[in-house]
Amino acid sequence: MNTPAMTDAPIPPVDLAAERAELGDALDRVVLETLHSGAYVLGPQVEAFERDFAALQRAKHGVGVGSGTDALILALKALGVQPGDHVVTSPFTFFASAGSIAWIGAKPVLADVDPDTGLMDVDAARAACDAKTTCILPVHIYGQLVDVKAFRALADEKQVPLLEDAAQAHAAERDGVRAGELGDAAGFSFYPTKNLGTAGEGGAILCRDDAVLTALHRLRDHGSSAKYQHASIGTNSRLQAMHAAILNVKLPHLEAWNERRRANAKRYDELFAGSEVVRPLTVAPNSVHAYHQYGVRVRGEGARDRVLAGLHERKIFAAVHYPRPVHEQEAAAEWGYGPGDFPGAEALAREILCLPIHPFLSPEQVERVAAGVLELAG
Ligand SMILES: Cc1ncc(COP(=O)(O)O)c(C=O)c1O
Repeated sequence: MNTPAMTDAPIPPVDLAAERAELGDALDRVVLETLHSGAYVLGPQVEAFERDFAALQRAKHGVGVGSGTDALILALKALGVQPGDHVVTSPFTFFASAGSIAWIGAKPVLADVDPDTGLMDVDAARAACDAKTTCILPVHIYGQLVDVKAFRALADEKQVPLLEDAAQAHAAERDGVRAGELGDAAGFSFYPTKNLGTAGEGGAILCRDDAVLTALHRLRDHGSSAKYQHASIGTNSRLQAMHAAILNVKLPHLEAWNERRRANAKRYDELFAGSEVVRPLTVAPNSVHAYHQYGVRVRGEGARDRVLAGLHERKIFAAVHYPRPVHEQEAAAEWGYGPGDFPGAEALAREILCLPIHPFLSPEQVERVAAGVLELAG
């Protein structure tokens, strides 16, 4: 039952304390066990996680690395992308998708998204491919998969690898295919706020080809082929045992937590049905959305920012992911784009509002959020 105090309680975007409470003392135990084991980098916890995570995503191989950003950087390198190459990606994403491409000296070539979904359009991606394109890097933004089968066909047509940015798409599915199942490689993030998150930084790459797997093992460990034998140039990006141990505890809960996110989304959809001003992003048929974020577009000049400010006054911590598209970032200046180049991404940056969707929201909280949004949107 709602007491007045409960009605006013803050609604956070994530609730890691509730997650810990649901797991009981399992996390505390593995953290202590790992501390006492003295094995901190790679090792059995990491190997178990790589195996089980790859199996969950229906991919052949898993490689644990230091972060989701490293997952993309190392995957690009393992897939053979060279400085000066072009890699097609989305203008509506966390900057790491494009930044990773630039970090290895390649050029991010952007292809617009459908503003109803936030997902990179396959025809726009085809049009963005040129003679220098050596990789296509779509982003499963908010936890909904792009049209992976169409992107697989495009990559085959262009004879370049497909690298999925699946940082937000743990256990998401479309047309019967999971994130990481069809790509030559896929990068995942285990940043604490992700659907599957650790207590710090962590990432993984899934891949299918044994040669790519070998390249990734070397890239994350100074190009090492055996102890003190360096076959190639690499870096230090090895997943730590403590993070793998935490992820191993949480992994069996991921699907149930995603299911609760979907139930929250369904309720929001019902509550926003019929609103002319507040329109939830569209979900493709045959999509099993992971709802890392639940996004609505708020129509009208300045309306989104007004609603956001009003929600914060009510201690409802909605957020804008992302207020400025990739091509309008200062760091992107030399890629040669400007305002107006990607209308889909720009419309979303103006109108998108992400509402709390985590698995530990109560039905009352979902209703309070939706009522607040509708009232403030007018
Ligand atoms: C779409 C996307 N790509 C890449 C990353 C990078 O992951 P990490 O923060 O683990 O480096 C993130 C993280 O937020 C992301 O959302």
